[in-house]
Amino acid sequence: MDTKHEQIVAHMIREVERGHIRSGHKLPSVRALAKMFSCSPNTVVRAYQTLERDDVIYPVPKSGYYLVEGKGPASARTESEPIDFASTTPRGDFLPFQEMEHCLRKAISLYKEELFGYTDPQGIFSLRNELSRYFHAQQMFAKPDQIAVVTGAQQAFSILTRMPFPGEGRVVLVEQPTYFGFLAAARVAGCPVIGIHRDEHGIDLEVLESYFRSGQIKLFYTVPRFLNPLGTSYSLEQKRRIADLARQYDVYIVEDDYLADLEEDSKADPLYALAQSHHVIYVKSFSKTILPGIRMGAVLLPDRLLDPFIRHKNAADISSPILSQGALELYIMSGMYKRHAARIREHYREKMRYAIEVCARVFGSGIHYTCPSSGVFITIRLPQYVKASALQDRLLQRGISVTNVDQHLLPENQRNDRIRLCIIGVEKPRIEAGMIVIEEEIRRLERRMR
Ligand SMILES: Cc1ncc(COP(=O)(O)O)c(C=O)c1O
Repeated sequence: MDTKHEQIVAHMIREVERGHIRSGHKLPSVRALAKMFSCSPNTVVRAYQTLERDDVIYPVPKSGYYLVEGKGPASARTESEPIDFASTTPRGDFLPFQEMEHCLRKAISLYKEELFGYTDPQGIFSLRNELSRYFHAQQMFAKPDQIAVVTGAQQAFSILTRMPFPGEGRVVLVEQPTYFGFLAAARVAGCPVIGIHRDEHGIDLEVLESYFRSGQIKLFYTVPRFLNPLGTSYSLEQKRRIADLARQYDVYIVEDDYLADLEEDSKADPLYALAQSHHVIYVKSFSKTILPGIRMGAVLLPDRLLDPFIRHKNAADISSPILSQGALELYIMSGMYKRHAARIREHYREKMRYAIEVCARVFGSGIHYTCPSSGVFITIRLPQYVKASALQDRLLQRGISVTNVDQHLLPENQRNDRIRLCIIGVEKPRIEAGMIVIEEEIRRLERRMR
């Protein structure tokens, strides 16, 4: 026989699944439920706390408990509701909003004095110290002095493309496709940019070597894990070779590890660990795993680049906001980050596994897709003659947003033949519904072009 606590939890989940309680609606009062289940109010409160921990409901002080947005039954949503495979913003209820709210409040009192002035451009020491311990656990042995806090990974890209590097190289080398945020930073900084082809198997290391050997490369920007847009990762062997080449030809690598927390394989060391830090600038973002709005990122820098980087950071914004820094420090220090990372790791692995299973079921011959082990991106290569831009327009008319991979390519490499799907904000039942429409529209365009 279930305990009263379990009975209440099961009852509330049934009520949500049947659509009797809708997103944003207030749940029955503690007193009403206690009466209904003939139990003490404390038992109801504990049951509600269990649901809160599972991110099903949230409390509003002096009001009561409410259902989290998007937790209603899938069947309660209409077919015409848009499906957004373009947005890269995590689902609201899967982000640790309440925990961060708590940390921000604590940061206000802890860093009250600092709010009246300016803080260290490199980032407050106590946060860098926490980050150093966090990175140590991932085989990256940077001391607090070798870490710089930035206002999102994007600020690191902006600084790195502008600041001078030792050596003669002036050209930025990027994978093709690559993250368009970095391309935008390089464009605005006026850097010459060239590309190296990357697909689900990686890059041609001989071509990479010839670029490195040329002496013209200022830095190589790479996203080894869960590349946006392909979703795929380099093997450990490929990363070892890339790290060796960087050392051999004295070329700097900017390693964007924006989804490191989703890695399942404990042996999948970042380039930074493999290169023993000397040629790798490691960039971490907290946007996808905590909250994009706190604008927090961190950079691990080789000693030679520390000073120029911090001078540029100082010139850009003096320092990153103290409240975001303080809240992040408390979030990591309390162990909340570690627990949250474990939860999202499992969530995204399972979600990606499901999305790939749907692709296999829905897409027939001629439609190829990447098969990442986790992360949030899948790229679909369209059959011959089907244009990504035409498909994008058709899908939009049916309420589905996708991204044209051309956005991730230098103009000379744009082929208008691939789309990117981001599953981060799309619930499971909607993934299948969306893929079915995508397949229908690809086939329709294919028939029309024949
Ligand atoms: C490859 C990549 N790097 C970094 C970021 C995030 O950067 P930021 O920390 O500035 O939000 C994103 C966001 O989508 C991304 O796709």
